[in-house]
Amino acid sequence: MTMLKKLHMTAAVLALSTTTVAAQEVEVLHWWTSGGEAAAVGTLRDALSDGGVGWVDMPVAGGGGSDAMTVLRARVTAGDPPTAVQMLGFSIQDWAAEGALANLNDLAAEQGWADVVPEALQRFSTYEGNWVAAPVNVHSTNWVWANTALMEELGVEQPGSWDEFVSAMQAAQDAGYTALAHGGQAWQDATVFESMVMGVGGPEFYQASMVDLDPEALGSDMMVEAFQRMETLRGFVDDNFSGRDWNLASAMVINGDALFQIMGDWAKGEFVNAGLTAGEEFTCFRVPGTQDTVTFNSDQFAMFNVSDPAAQEAQTAMASAVMSPEFQITFNLVKGSVPARTDVSADQFDMCGQMGMEQLAEAAAGGTLFGSMAHGHANTPSVQNAMYDVITAHFNGEYDAETAAAELVTAVEIAQ
Ligand code: GAL
Repeated sequence: MTMLKKLHMTAAVLALSTTTVAAQEVEVLHWWTSGGEAAAVGTLRDALSDGGVGWVDMPVAGGGGSDAMTVLRARVTAGDPPTAVQMLGFSIQDWAAEGALANLNDLAAEQGWADVVPEALQRFSTYEGNWVAAPVNVHSTNWVWANTALMEELGVEQPGSWDEFVSAMQAAQDAGYTALAHGGQAWQDATVFESMVMGVGGPEFYQASMVDLDPEALGSDMMVEAFQRMETLRGFVDDNFSGRDWNLASAMVINGDALFQIMGDWAKGEFVNAGLTAGEEFTCFRVPGTQDTVTFNSDQFAMFNVSDPAAQEAQTAMASAVMSPEFQITFNLVKGSVPARTDVSADQFDMCGQMGMEQLAEAAAGGTLFGSMAHGHANTPSVQNAMYDVITAHFNGEYDAETAAAELVTAVEIAQ
């Protein structure tokens, strides 16, 4: 479409917006189905409803969003895209490259998004210089969630090194508790794995293997060690871990059945939703070995091209609501993440939220902020899925650590 035509269309839409009284509605495809996530969705639905925009819910369960992305593809192929979609990193770029996403430049310019959205996020929110998505948050994945009463009972201090982390888990296991709450699903295995990669090899190794996909790094001794750490962790999960949803693993820590969970800070949404307070009944710390780094993912809303002017208006209203500084506080307090905007005060956030905001800013400034592989911010969906397969096969005992590293090299090569 030419720029002129686009301007004419925008003008037509604006003209319509002042005259139509058609009910505005957004159909939102997302994967926020756990207790904490659903509560966060509720804040968005309420914000839209306050602005007169109706909500048609299209939830597709499955953490990490792979299933949601499969449903999205089917909807688009059938010629019936949802108006708005929760999306991560490289998926946004893929859909933008297909020309499927609406252009949000006018709203972005009017509201000055470029000044308040950090570079690391804009890299995914924009495609060829145009805004195609509105970021609602920043999550980070290299967290441990811990039950403080259990730590006290076991005499366990917050571990600062991998060895201390292993000793703490050993103490829990010896006392008859589940040391590590985990759900055996590919995306959860991968979420834990990326922290092992960072913990073993540090930022340079994470960049070389997960982002640059350097075959030497992928097949290196350090990668073997990362897989060996996964084997250690495998020895600390309970017998029923296979297929368990992540929020049920969080519930094990909440209920005092398990000591730790390695998970992104959406887990905090579960603790908060259960009425627990950070620094009291539960605590959070960075996965030992990854303390000076942050692996992040940002949930963004991409708007699909739709022709109905009322639907277009609703899309604009939704993007505007998502980017409101007040809304970013309300939403992220519930979601466990931190605001995508850099101009929002940390005052209302709990200990983990404040730590998250501070560390995110530090990592962004110091070059130690990296996109999460498990959550679509390090490499393309096809490479990500290839990595998932190897990580999960290894975690389930199909490969030893050496074979897994070799398989990773091959799988990534084929997926590119
Ligand atoms: C992530 C997403 C989070 C959270 C998590 C588990 O990919 O960014 O918002 O929903 O999956 O479902």
